[in-house]
Amino acid sequence: MKLNLIEKIITNSPVRAFGQKHIEGRLLRKMGSRNEYPLCLEIGCGRGIGAKIIAEQFGAGKIIATDFDPEQIEKAKRNLKPELKDTIEFKVADAMALDEPDEKFDAVFSFGVLHHMEDWKKALKEVARVLKPEGEFFFEELLKPFLDNFLIERLTAHPKGGRFTLQEFKDALSAEGIKIINLKRINNIVILGAGRKQ
Ligand SMILES: C[S@@+](CC[C@H](N)C(=O)[O-])C[C@H]1O[C@@H](n2cnc3c(N)ncnc32)[C@H](O)[C@@H]1O
Repeated sequence: MKLNLIEKIITNSPVRAFGQKHIEGRLLRKMGSRNEYPLCLEIGCGRGIGAKIIAEQFGAGKIIATDFDPEQIEKAKRNLKPELKDTIEFKVADAMALDEPDEKFDAVFSFGVLHHMEDWKKALKEVARVLKPEGEFFFEELLKPFLDNFLIERLTAHPKGGRFTLQEFKDALSAEGIKIINLKRINNIVILGAGRKQ
């Protein structure tokens, strides 16, 4: 589901970029088990801050960063630093139907994306499909109780089907053969974590 105006302003703001780089990125980096992830995929990359974090903090040699909104991909391409042009490739793609072969990536990243999809389990299936065995999945997701909040419901646009509890998320990962290796939950608001494909 495309972002509404309020979310677009928040997502594309310097505050979000700062938090993603200095808080989420650093927390997630500590949750993985390897020093390097040579080939990475990001789903729902927005304007491309996550891809830069993956390049700079996760030892990625190559990143394919995708979003289904062509406007966000254009923004990401425009913002890309010249020195990262050979490392990051931005392209339009629906995370629920990735045009990538099975078992290609060392790591897949989702910074606040799955809860934007009516069928988030379909995207999770795709994540598991494109990960190599032992590949790692890094995620940051908002939880159902937060998205169901009266004010959040009115200010943002999230599909009903994209709202999940922590237990539902854990069960869905397990169903796709992804074992959680680290997880941090901040109240009933947000989770950050890493899982490994078995
Ligand atoms: C809240 S934004 C997060 C953007 C970025 N990852 C960040 O952390 O700033 C969610 C992003 O997911 C994208 N998105 C939503 N549904 C998608 C889908 N089915 N496939 C790919 N991207 C999707 C939206 O276009 C948006 O850029």
